[in-house]
Amino acid sequence: MKKHLKHPIFTIISEEADLLGQESFVIGGFVRDILLKRNSPDIDVVTLGSGIELAKKVAKRISPKLPVSIFKTFGTAMLKYEGLEVEFVGARKESYQEDSRKPSVESGTLEDDQKRRDFTINALAICLNSDRFGELIDPFDGVADLKRKIIRTPLDPGITFSDDPLRMMRAIRFSTQLNFIIESSTIEAICANKERIKIVSKERIMDEMNKIILSDNPSKGFKLLDKCGLLDIIFPELAAMKGRQEIGGIGHKDNFLHTLEVLDRIVPNTDNLWLRWSALLHDIAKPRTKRFIPKLGWTFHAHNFVGAKMIPGIFRRMKLPLNEKMKYVQKMVSLHMRPIVLSEEEVTDSAVRRLLFEAGDDIDDLMTLCEADITSKNSEKEKRYLKNFQLVREKLKDLEERDHIRNFQPPVSGEEIMEVFGLSPSREVGIIKAAIKDAILDGEIHNNYEEAYSFMLKKAKELGLEPIGNQSE
Ligand code: CTP
Repeated sequence: MKKHLKHPIFTIISEEADLLGQESFVIGGFVRDILLKRNSPDIDVVTLGSGIELAKKVAKRISPKLPVSIFKTFGTAMLKYEGLEVEFVGARKESYQEDSRKPSVESGTLEDDQKRRDFTINALAICLNSDRFGELIDPFDGVADLKRKIIRTPLDPGITFSDDPLRMMRAIRFSTQLNFIIESSTIEAICANKERIKIVSKERIMDEMNKIILSDNPSKGFKLLDKCGLLDIIFPELAAMKGRQEIGGIGHKDNFLHTLEVLDRIVPNTDNLWLRWSALLHDIAKPRTKRFIPKLGWTFHAHNFVGAKMIPGIFRRMKLPLNEKMKYVQKMVSLHMRPIVLSEEEVTDSAVRRLLFEAGDDIDDLMTLCEADITSKNSEKEKRYLKNFQLVREKLKDLEERDHIRNFQPPVSGEEIMEVFGLSPSREVGIIKAAIKDAILDGEIHNNYEEAYSFMLKKAKELGLEPIGNQSE
C-alpha cells in the first residue's frame, strides 16, 4: 500500500502522529478508491486520540497560516491542501438514538471505529505511523468483497441501517455506481428498515439519488429502490408508473420500465443532471392521465402538460432547486412530445420554426431527450423515427441560420404598436403582436423590422385601426 501514499501529506501526518504518540490511519472511501483504481480527493484520517490536535500540528507543518476548520461537537477537524480535503477524527464507538441520525460519541479502538462504518468495502484502513506505514487493516474482509463485487455491512445489517438509515440509500448508490451486488441479508435488512428512511433529511436522500441518476446505469438503482420498497416512500409518483393494464386484450407498456429505459438511453449523450431528471420525469403524469377509450385504446392525453404542472410539487417536496433548473425540467417535460409529433407528420418549416421558438437554446437538449424516448421494440419503426429526427435536426439548423428564431424577440414591440395607433394596453395590441409573431413563424414575412412594420399596418387596418397623425413629423 506504501506506493499509494506517496503524496507528501501522508509523510507529514505520519511524522506528526509519531510525535504525538497517536496511532493514525487513513480510512474509508480513500482506501476503497485506491483498490478500485479511482482517484479520490477526500482523505479521512482516524487517530487514537484527538483528531483536532493532530490536524493542528499537520496544518502548522504545511504552512504556519493554513486554516483548520474545527467542529468541536463532532471532535473533527478539516484542512484543505493542494486540492485535497483532509478530515481528522478520533476513533470512536457510536450508538445512535431511535429518532435521529446524530450519534452520541465515545472514544474507541480502531476496530470499534471500523465496525461502526457502513460497508466492509468502506471500513478498510491503512496505518500511517512509521513502524507500520502502509499496512492494510481489513478485519471484515473488505478486500475480498471488493474483488467479489459485494456490498455488505460489517455488523448485523439491521443494526447498521437502523443506526443510520441514509446507508440504505448509500448501499443502493454504491451498488449502482460500482455495479456491485448487495448481499442478500443486507437487502433484506433494507426492506425491513425502509420506514426509517423518513428520519433522513430530503437533501441527503437527494444527494444519493442524484448520484444514482449520474451513474452509468441508473435503472439499476431505481429497480433496487423499488425492490426494497424505498421508492414508494421517497418517490411515490415514480412508483405509481409501475405495471401494465389490459382491457379487452389491449395493453399499454409498463411506464416505469419505459422511463428507466429512456434514462439509461440518455446517459451516453449527456452528463447534464437536469436533462437526466427530465428523462426520469418526462412521462410522470401518465398514471394520472390514463384512459381507456373503446376503439382507440389507451390514451394519456396531455400528459406532457399535466407532467410539467406536477414538477414544482415534486421538486418542493424533494428539496430540489426551485429555480431555473426546475423551469428547464418543466420545459423539457412539456415539450417532449413535439419533435415526435413533428416527425410523424410532414416536417414543415413552420412547425420547425415554432418548435425552435418555444425551445430556444434548449432545443438540442430537447432533441436528445426525444431520441432517447424512442424505445420501440419494432426496429423498422425505430429507424423511421430516428430518420425523421435527423430531418428535423437538419431543418432546425437550416432555419436557424436563415431566420434566427432561437430566443426570438418580435421586431415590433407592444409599446410601439400602442404608440403608432394611440392605444392603451388592450386586446387589440395583443392581437396585432401575436399576428406578427405568427406571420414570422409561418414564414409569411421575414424576421426583420421593415416587414414586421408593414405587416402591423395591414393587420391593424383589418381591425379598423389607423395610425394616429403623421408619424414622421
Ligand atoms: N460513512 C458511514 N456511514 C455514512 C457515511 C459515511 O459509515 N452514512 C463512512 C464510510 O466509511 C465512508 C466514509 O465514512 O467511506 C466517508 O464517507 P463519504 O465521504 O460520505 O463517502 P465515501 O465513502 O468517501 O464515498 P463517496 O465519496 O463516493 O460519497
